[in-house]
Amino acid sequence: MKHETQVATLKTLLDLRETGRDQKMLGEVVQIPVRNYTDEGILDREMTTVFRNYPMVAGHASHVREPGAYLRSDWDRFPFIVVRGRDGALRAFLNVCRHRGARLCTGREDRLKAVVCPFHGWVYDLDGSLRSITKAYDFPDLDVSRFGLTELPVREHMGLIWIHPTPGASLDPAAYLGEIGQDMEHFDIAGLVSFRKNIVTRKANWKLLLKTYLEGYHVPFLHRDTIAKVFRKGVIAHLEQGPHIRLAAARANILDALEADSASWRILDYASVYYSLFPNAFFIMHPDYVSINIFYPEAPDRTIWTHEMLYRPADFEGEEGQAALRKRFEYTNDVVFDLEDFAVAEDVQTCLRYGGNDYHTLGLEEGLLALFQRNVDQALTGTV
Ligand code: FES
Ligand SMILES: [Fe+2]
Repeated sequence: MKHETQVATLKTLLDLRETGRDQKMLGEVVQIPVRNYTDEGILDREMTTVFRNYPMVAGHASHVREPGAYLRSDWDRFPFIVVRGRDGALRAFLNVCRHRGARLCTGREDRLKAVVCPFHGWVYDLDGSLRSITKAYDFPDLDVSRFGLTELPVREHMGLIWIHPTPGASLDPAAYLGEIGQDMEHFDIAGLVSFRKNIVTRKANWKLLLKTYLEGYHVPFLHRDTIAKVFRKGVIAHLEQGPHIRLAAARANILDALEADSASWRILDYASVYYSLFPNAFFIMHPDYVSINIFYPEAPDRTIWTHEMLYRPADFEGEEGQAALRKRFEYTNDVVFDLEDFAVAEDVQTCLRYGGNDYHTLGLEEGLLALFQRNVDQALTGTV
């Protein structure tokens, strides 16, 4: 985030503390049909649009710096691997054997020298070409060149690996992110490394989970004993860029900014910054680390949630540094997200089964949920 944007955002937050709400969010009470969270047909349509037509974050680039290093999808509905070839090029493939469709890379491999199918042993090079067939004489006249792995568009941008779920699609993450991407670059995600990644299945719709991050209305209640004291109640500014949303939430100390010259303001000293990158990634910029949350639907009421914490090695050195990181991760992941945000989202999902509401009613502070839902709805019809 450029310094001038940081200053402008903090000024917006300081103004908003008077009214306590961002009028631009939506400006009206809206209702969202709850079938968005329960309907198989809607998820099927999301799978063929929302999760087919847009670039997605595959992971942090530090995982694929060396030849043979790879990233593997956490999601069976979209099984891919991204691998750094011996020639230094980054490639992505569907993690599916071209013989009889077995899953190739299991995730247990440390580095890949080649991709060997566990079923009948066909071997693929890291460039995706089929190198050898077990008992090749059993496949007379097979044109090996037609049985390379299915390649997917992949790009490294901003320290992240981006993938497009549709073979042959054009992939330009910078253009996709627009101004929000330039904004994020200032956080130097490329200079970070991974501390830990948590992968769990939660019993709630992917949008329901993600939406818990899009409003501050719940914070003083749900997080009353944890993070509520860190924030200034309900003071959140946002920016929309295409289907992406940036949020900035004022911290309790925001008035201290008034004591300092704005030339010295750094946004993370007085606010938390979040990016909802369409469709399913949510980034949290903490003062000393970054959280990447990604949501992958398994069923209308089941979602794989991955949470990876990235940090700058110079900020957390030695045993003490690692212990501090562990503490932060456990607090954020295990307590705030797991026991508070997503536990309540699961409760909501459970209650949906028993009726009571055909709609969820969103107040003025919850407008971003409606904006996010609008973006999903537009993606379903191909208008985003
Ligand atoms: S399914 Fe992979 S070698 Fe047979
Ligand atoms: Fe929360």
